Amino acid sequence: MTFENGADFQEELVVIDDPAAGLSGVIAIHSTTLGPAAGGCRLWHYDGTADLARDAVRLARGMSYKNALAGLPLGGGKAVLRRPPGEFDRTALFHAFGEAVARLNGRYVTAEDVGTSVADMKLVRERTRHVAGLDALPGRAGGDPSSWTALGVFEAMQAAAGRRFGRSLHGMTVAVQGVGNVGAGLCRLLHAEGARLIVADTDARRVARLVEELGAESCGVDEIAAVPAQIFAPCALGGVLNDRTIPLLQAKLICGAANNQLATDEDGAALMRRGITYAPDYVVNAGGIINVSAEYLGETSQQVRARVGLIAARLISILREAEDSGSPTNRVADALAARIIADAMPGAGAGAAATRVVAPPVRPPLVFAPATG
Ligand code: NAI
Repeated sequence: MTFENGADFQEELVVIDDPAAGLSGVIAIHSTTLGPAAGGCRLWHYDGTADLARDAVRLARGMSYKNALAGLPLGGGKAVLRRPPGEFDRTALFHAFGEAVARLNGRYVTAEDVGTSVADMKLVRERTRHVAGLDALPGRAGGDPSSWTALGVFEAMQAAAGRRFGRSLHGMTVAVQGVGNVGAGLCRLLHAEGARLIVADTDARRVARLVEELGAESCGVDEIAAVPAQIFAPCALGGVLNDRTIPLLQAKLICGAANNQLATDEDGAALMRRGITYAPDYVVNAGGIINVSAEYLGETSQQVRARVGLIAARLISILREAEDSGSPTNRVADALAARIIADAMPGAGAGAAATRVVAPPVRPPLVFAPATG
């Protein structure tokens, strides 16, 4: 399969089908060039197999790019499973899925994603060791990734604000959409730095807590994208940057944790035309995957901290390249990720060295967590 950037490394699409267990779906392996293809397992309603497979391929490529730009020794993959109608036997389904993952002999590493949970992944681990996103092991990183995600977004925002506004976050106004696990953590870091906060969430209790704890202002969920703030931090849903919201934005910098913030690729160009700096979501929200994969790679919290610490510099390289080339930041990030992967392929040319300067991959030895299956 060839993608728009010319990179051609969709490796494998494995159809998994076990009617007795209620299992039906695919595992898409986009690339194993940098390491095992890592990406979560989505359980969702799909009508046709073509839709499901298309989603899996698109999401697997997204994971390749995210892992490459996070400097992880991992490729990209994704499992997408059709949610059986009505009540179903989760144990049977995730045991069968674990067996499908095991048959790939480590080419694909799974984790939780939309529609799956830690409990499901514990069932998967009864059948294969190639699963992450479980509890931290003693002395190792792991567990809840949200605080790492918030830290990476915060440090990226600090760096981008310095570049865009020539000043620190102190005294700047940041509008945060969604104050769940990541958004609330980000607000606390911003407050400690002296930033002013405007927050919105569909959960009024979460908003009330931050108003009381941090003196944040609040506004309605339909207003947050358009409030007077220098920075907008989407930390709730995907698709929030679209043809309806982009004309309303007052912020000049967008930097947040939500996945797939751009409704379409073209919206990156629309932001650029409005003179708004967009920090590509998968670059700045990589703290979560860094922490989850550390559990699989057997890394410590110090190693996770070191990797998260590289996010801001990576973002600045992307912003600089976007300015120099006049291209939208999302396209620059995609092209850089594709280049990192292509340069690591056997027989890659001299470009590899140049790429590594931009995004130095940290390559610890692969040490696998003990597994039951
Ligand atoms: P969460 O579920 O803890 O928080 C999301 C918050 O958004 C909730 O408080 C929810 O009430 C609120 N919300 C939902 N719809 C909203 C709307 N229309 N307007 C305003 N608020 C709304 O999720 P979490 O873990 O904080 O993740 C936030 C985003 O970051 C998600 O898009 C997630 O995919 C992404 N992300 C999270 C990572 C992590 O480590 N947790 C890692 C990478 C990305």
